[in-house]
Amino acid sequence: MILSKQASNLLHRSWVIVLTLEFATSMWRITWCLLLLATTCWQRGYTKEGENPPSPGHVSVVIVGGTGDLAKKYLWQGFFHLYSTQVGKGYTFSFYGGGLSPDDKGTALLFEILKELKCPSELTAERCALVKEQFLRLSQYLQLKTVEDYEKLSQQIQQQLKQEGMVEAGRLFYMSVPAFAYADIAAKINSTCRPPAGTWLRVVLEKPFGHDFGSAQLLATQLASFLKEEEMFRIDHYLGKEVVSQILAFRKKNNNLLEPIWNKHHIERIEIVLKETLDCKGRIQFYDQYGVIRDVLQNHLTEVLTLLMMSVPANLSSSEEVLKNKLQVFSTLEHLESKSVVIGQYQSYTEEVQEELNKTKDYFSLTPTFAGVVIFADSPQYDGIPIFMTSGKMLDERVGYARILFKNDIFCVQDYDNVNCRPRQIVFYLGHGALEYPAILVSKNLFKPSLVNSGWKEVTEHKDVNVLGLPLSDYYIQTPVVPKEAYYELISKIFHGRKDSFISTENLLASWAFWTPLLDSLVRAYPRPYPGSVANGDLLNFELRGREAAFVNEAVVNVIQQGQDENFQVMQGKYRGVDMVSAWAKELVERLASDLQSAAEEAIRDEGQFHLALSGGSSPIALFLQLALHQYTFPWSHTHVWLADERCVPPTEAGSNFRTIHDQLLQHVRIPYFNIHPMPVLLNQRLCVEEDGGAILYENEINQLVNASSFHYILLGVGEDGHTASLFQDSKLDESGERLVTLTESPSKPHQRMSLTFTAINKARKVGVLLMGKRKHELVTQLSRIKGESAKYPITKVQPTNGNLIWYLDYDALLG
Ligand code: BG6
Repeated sequence: MILSKQASNLLHRSWVIVLTLEFATSMWRITWCLLLLATTCWQRGYTKEGENPPSPGHVSVVIVGGTGDLAKKYLWQGFFHLYSTQVGKGYTFSFYGGGLSPDDKGTALLFEILKELKCPSELTAERCALVKEQFLRLSQYLQLKTVEDYEKLSQQIQQQLKQEGMVEAGRLFYMSVPAFAYADIAAKINSTCRPPAGTWLRVVLEKPFGHDFGSAQLLATQLASFLKEEEMFRIDHYLGKEVVSQILAFRKKNNNLLEPIWNKHHIERIEIVLKETLDCKGRIQFYDQYGVIRDVLQNHLTEVLTLLMMSVPANLSSSEEVLKNKLQVFSTLEHLESKSVVIGQYQSYTEEVQEELNKTKDYFSLTPTFAGVVIFADSPQYDGIPIFMTSGKMLDERVGYARILFKNDIFCVQDYDNVNCRPRQIVFYLGHGALEYPAILVSKNLFKPSLVNSGWKEVTEHKDVNVLGLPLSDYYIQTPVVPKEAYYELISKIFHGRKDSFISTENLLASWAFWTPLLDSLVRAYPRPYPGSVANGDLLNFELRGREAAFVNEAVVNVIQQGQDENFQVMQGKYRGVDMVSAWAKELVERLASDLQSAAEEAIRDEGQFHLALSGGSSPIALFLQLALHQYTFPWSHTHVWLADERCVPPTEAGSNFRTIHDQLLQHVRIPYFNIHPMPVLLNQRLCVEEDGGAILYENEINQLVNASSFHYILLGVGEDGHTASLFQDSKLDESGERLVTLTESPSKPHQRMSLTFTAINKARKVGVLLMGKRKHELVTQLSRIKGESAKYPITKVQPTNGNLIWYLDYDALLG
């Protein structure tokens, strides 16, 4: 009993008193208290022999949201593990679980969590009991609601340091709370809990870090007003997974073997996959606002992608270099758009949403629970390699992996089982699935890799399972000797101030900048419904078509989507007295591309060349993509591409028509460089200056190369104000006489333009006018009422003298 009393003096934390009373009568408890006394001295930084080694200092850990789900499942366990590895190395600790509940309720909740803590595998049961007791004694609950609560916390930390004569090392705040509370808590920490100079402050944040680029930027700006970049540790728990955390180490360790094959000449495809069997029940409030792309692809899978594609840093332990190289990857990724992705939603999701969000039975959510994306990088190293990224809820198995499949140039005539006929691949296997443990697998027909580090071992006993098309015996397999929890890995890195496994503000914004346009384009997209689990069959299998992603099996009836597309026909008729073709956008563009190809073939047959002039604007983009990705038989090698008009901006700017035509079309097709004729808007390092004679130069080029200066085809659009090419109302166009090219003024920015004149346009053999989208409907109606020319609508002056004019109007533009 005497011992018990002594011990209770030390057990000043309230819940530990509860614990003490619970067991006070047992003999076992007495022994335990003896141990406790012994270890108390140790914790304070004294060795058994009573020596006093230099102490690195005292660390206060505060888990804000310390009784929440994440804290319960992972964080306390992670900090307990950290404590068990650091105690005895001179550090001392206090742990605070902060929450909104009053102290008595919170203390009981925290006690329930802490008593369940499991022993890290490297500790014996005896040692673990000892360390756990210490840990419990050092942990307490605190209500953390108001700024006064934070002040009290800071005072308590200072008081304790003073009383116990300890030097402070730092303060670690882990925000395990909804993201909307981050800025407010950061403000409180900043105003009340900053440790003195020379002592570190680390604040840990959990995703979501915003909902899109704008909100992520806003949150980042708010946080930056309270915390310095080096103080923020944004967690992505995938970076703590053992295999993910060793991707760079593996690449570096095996660099001499990997470097020659880690490129477009050898890699056939990359797959980054997280399949889950669970549904979203219980978290719809969160999930329905986010969906699978924001929940998993934008963060976890993108992190894996960057680790696979970044240049391996010369110094792996330089956080700065790691983060810089990662950031570099984003600048090479090609822009994603709605056609880069397929999306799905498991069928019972709707019911879950109706129930959890209190919605009526006719409510549907468009939030995808499955997504398959195809990503490309525009870089000399990876150009053309499709990167398939996919994740979904309610799939057939739980598994996560990244697979690099290499090209196999061997053609096996027979003996298909020969090792050289099998897939050549490296698999970073995150866990679960058939293998059930995390591992890095290298197919034996590639090379025998070195172990990433001494904490990893080679697996030589093989279960009878297949992993991604190969039996285990076909792989060299390595796995961690002692498996470690991702949160422990990350907590340990935070403790050591290593920032390479965390998301910097720059990297976060770069990732959102990459994903946001795709997310925006999907706002009204209908996900394909899927039944869930094995019943999905091949419903979600997707493939690469050109550069787009598409479900392999198209014959599925989309139960949500109705109407609109029942009529796929292309309609032919008259508009403004000449030919018109009309259809839904997709079919219209296909038809226009095919008409262009016929015109090209005819011109090449007759004259050996096809001269095509293209306009800017958004309407032709769909056509460019059709020509680039589907019209493989188009005779590009005999085609000359001219511009119908150009904005007076450098050709590298996004607003340049040439830039659009280049990005959406020319770079994808095999057209000789000397057949491409951008308008010379930039001469003598200045834009569209009359004296530089750019318009005349272009005119001369046309005169020299185009037979009778008569283009075979000019493709035009029409602005909502009736302008075409860069011929606007009120410009003195009629004064251009026989001129083919002229400088013009646009009412909207950039004001200066260069354009073909009506003279040049009306000399053409064929002129196609493409109008698409509902916002052109009003214009189409107005134009249909005007007979002949109108000064107000320059397009009405397009009347080819000897050629054909044909209108291409999609149903949205025609019918509204
Ligand atoms: C979380 C997502 O970040 O990661 C969950 O919010 C997802 O939806 C989970 O299930 C996957 O993590 P793990 O570690 O189970 O693969």
